[in-house]
Amino acid sequence: MDKLRITGGRPLEGEVRVSGAKNAALPIMCASLLTAQPLKLGNVPRLMDVSTMAKLLGQMGVEVSRSEGKMTLTARTIQDPTASYDLVKTMRASVLVLGPLLARCGRAKVSLPGGCAIGQRPVDQHVKGLQAMGATIAIEHGYMHASAERLRGARIVMDLVSVTGTENLMMAAALAEGTTLIENAAREPEVADLARALSAMGAKIQGAGSDVIRIEGVASLGGAGHEVMPDRIETGTYLAAVAAAGGKVRLAGAEPRSLDATLEKLREAGAKIALNNSTIEIEMQERPQAVSVRTAPYPGFATDMQAQFMALAAIARGTAMITETIFENRFMHALELQRLGADISIEGNTAVVRGVERLQGARVMATDLRASAGLVIAALVAEGETVVDRIYHLDRGYEALEKKLSRLGARVERIR
Ligand code: UD1
Repeated sequence: MDKLRITGGRPLEGEVRVSGAKNAALPIMCASLLTAQPLKLGNVPRLMDVSTMAKLLGQMGVEVSRSEGKMTLTARTIQDPTASYDLVKTMRASVLVLGPLLARCGRAKVSLPGGCAIGQRPVDQHVKGLQAMGATIAIEHGYMHASAERLRGARIVMDLVSVTGTENLMMAAALAEGTTLIENAAREPEVADLARALSAMGAKIQGAGSDVIRIEGVASLGGAGHEVMPDRIETGTYLAAVAAAGGKVRLAGAEPRSLDATLEKLREAGAKIALNNSTIEIEMQERPQAVSVRTAPYPGFATDMQAQFMALAAIARGTAMITETIFENRFMHALELQRLGADISIEGNTAVVRGVERLQGARVMATDLRASAGLVIAALVAEGETVVDRIYHLDRGYEALEKKLSRLGARVERIR
């Protein structure tokens, strides 16, 4: 298993280019199931999760070709509308095939995702919405067996805000008969990006990016081209790294308007930030001030940025309260940060982080994707050498992490 060896203590300087968004690329790849014609994507990030999705779609008969940042997916026929446990357990986003398969083939067999390191993560909202559209869904031997002659438009009020839940229902509704209203929909920019891709394929969608989405079903969708939006979580991770380690960095190919909550918190921490259309410049020349965050659905502070901000708080001046409201078990990085010398106590869903002046390098273990990013940030600040174990978590969601960080002057090395 690969590890990262990081020698901390250097400020970050220079420019990095942001990759395409993992959480937009994955649902948009699934949208290819809705048409027999090619879906041509650009700005596709080179990530393990993207390869896993390509493999999953390939198993169903989708032809996938890929070069550099481009990917063409053609679902001429779907041989087997099944997502097996083997792949779903490694990547929960696999559940995004459920809606499109049901809409296109009238049936689907998709493994239940099961528990994962950051909490229970059920799929009841996906199921409830598809049932409202006329699907029959039985759960047997750990699989959802779904069928429907043709899905019908419906008014769906989601009990809670679910990103992939909203995306699954939006894709299903695109080919349903009649109009679907999704209320209490997720407003994440990735939902809006998926809607843009679907619209390019001929879907009729209004309101994506707001909490009410209206989809008028059409009889068929066609091929299209689409550029995947920039990854706001990757962007935010580099910004937090600079805020923690100090220095001056320019992020190119970013989408600043998708990062309001993060940018506001970084300014509060003392970072100087300059924006234009697609670049963000950050400068930090002092030890950060402690900033408290509370995670919430978009446009609130992203749960996917929580671990990175805990690392920032660990070396800040003062005490920060980090409150996690989305996932019930997303503080595992706290124990690992303590191994580096952080002072963190957890009470319920709040971590109280008392900033210390110095962290010290140690061996730590990545527990999930964003937790690992938090550990990398802490390691960039820590004195001496940190070895981060199990970085396959990072490879799922950060393209060329060690290359990008090295380019900024960090001492980072992958040990195979
Ligand atoms: C997506 C993101 C993930 C991010 C998360 C929250 C992708 C591929 N992944 O995950 O990076 O951390 O949004 O911003 O886009 N829930 C239910 N029932 C459901 C669905 C969800 O109870 O049917 C709960 C979950 O357990 C969680 C909350 O709702 O507590 C939000 O989860 P959700 O938005 O669905 O997360 P994902 O879409 O899986």
